[in-house]
Amino acid sequence: METNERLQKITRFILERRAATEAKGNGRYPSFDFDYRWKHTLRVTQYGKQIAETEGADVEVVMAACLLHDISKFDDEQYGVEHGRVSARIARPFLETLGYSAEQVDNICFSIAVHVDDKADFEHPVTLESKIVSDADNIDRFGAYRLLLQFKNYAENYHALIEKAESRILTLRKYREGNITGTASGEKLFNHQLDLQINFLEHLINDSKLTIEAKL
Ligand SMILES: [Fe+2]
Ligand SMILES: [Fe+2]
Repeated sequence: METNERLQKITRFILERRAATEAKGNGRYPSFDFDYRWKHTLRVTQYGKQIAETEGADVEVVMAACLLHDISKFDDEQYGVEHGRVSARIARPFLETLGYSAEQVDNICFSIAVHVDDKADFEHPVTLESKIVSDADNIDRFGAYRLLLQFKNYAENYHALIEKAESRILTLRKYREGNITGTASGEKLFNHQLDLQINFLEHLINDSKLTIEAKL
């Protein structure tokens, strides 16, 4: 089977499960935004591809793991800290039907399992591919759209908006100083996202300081 055929099969596998969960009604998390989660998944996969190509990783392993990294969320299964490990367990038997080597299946499953909290429920060394999947996920978590979502409920309340911006910027600056990413190209993209958010929020806060009475 060709790479693109496998990636298409993985895509269909996820979307069929999403459709089945939506059809039966998402009992545990009724307000879950499947559309956001799927678009996040697609963006993570593209970031993963880009980083894997630069870092010389197994691009298909990274893309397969990125596509499947949050599959438990489409399954109404598990949304908490376990969702990486649950996703890996859902993915494994399906991956075994696609003609991947045992090593590739383990690497994909490990990359999925550890993407939340660096912990897998099976023994496996840390791989370049697993670092890339986590980096790609973190990059999209700090994207422009995510920033908009975080602030959308504050748009009508200027005071609360500025307070939220001031507290968020402190967190972002901490991330900017921290060592969160696992690869050099992941770090570059991640820092770019953080810088965009920090710049925007700084601008917002600085503008708010001009909201004062006019005086010569
Ligand atoms: Fe996740
Ligand atoms: Fe994710």
